[in-house]
Amino acid sequence: MASRGSGIGAPSHAALMDEVYRGQRHLYDVTRKYYLFGRDTLIAGLAAAPGMRVLEIACGTGRNLAKIGKVWPAVALHGLDISAEMLKSARAALGREARLGEGDACTFDPKGLLGEPAFDRIVLSYSLSMIPDWQRALDHAAACLAPGGSLHVVDFGDLQGLPGPLQALLRRWLAMFHVEPRAALPAAAARIASARGLMLESRRGPLGYYQLHVLKAPEPARSVA
Ligand SMILES: C[S@@+](CC[C@H](N)C(=O)[O-])C[C@H]1O[C@@H](n2cnc3c(N)ncnc32)[C@H](O)[C@@H]1O
Repeated sequence: MASRGSGIGAPSHAALMDEVYRGQRHLYDVTRKYYLFGRDTLIAGLAAAPGMRVLEIACGTGRNLAKIGKVWPAVALHGLDISAEMLKSARAALGREARLGEGDACTFDPKGLLGEPAFDRIVLSYSLSMIPDWQRALDHAAACLAPGGSLHVVDFGDLQGLPGPLQALLRRWLAMFHVEPRAALPAAAARIASARGLMLESRRGPLGYYQLHVLKAPEPARSVA
């Protein structure tokens, strides 16, 4: 379980996320469809087969997991989030369709929390921009890939195609919610892919609004009879 605030000094990240989402979670899905672009493109690219273990790290309200279950039927859905508040929405949305747990993207134990040692598809959607130690979270996600599995990341991009004032306004507005677009994400994805022997495919969304990265683990070696 993620550590919660002690009541002294700065709140823990878990407590901060609960504070951000306690009220907002009720409006989250209807509002975010207007500015969290690229999530459905990521889901369409999962190419998940029945029986595959799919994990969304920082799953929020469970919106993506619900869609994944419709687009890729008969996969085994798993999700985790640091916010107990967000998990209330996810549990209400998904019921028994998914196994959910409260944990920190940087440190969770996949077997202990979700009963699986590794996953065939892992999703990080608009969460690295809210996780302070996001490079650690990305590396931990890559470490949880099963042989032949893939890690799919979507998040805010460089925003360079937006007019300057609009870009500045968007950055200020996102900062109010503790969201920071990660300019170093392409380099971090390349570094982690290379260190872990993964193939990397990256895409820049229209106007640089979002960035998409897929890190693929090699297929297990076939034994020759
Ligand atoms: C913008 S929401 C994205 C939710 C969902 N992935 C989506 O695409 O709609 C960010 C989520 O990241 C979660 N989060 C932030 N830091 C986290 C951490 N260290 N570990 C796990 N979840 C975290 C928040 O609680 C929140 O649910």
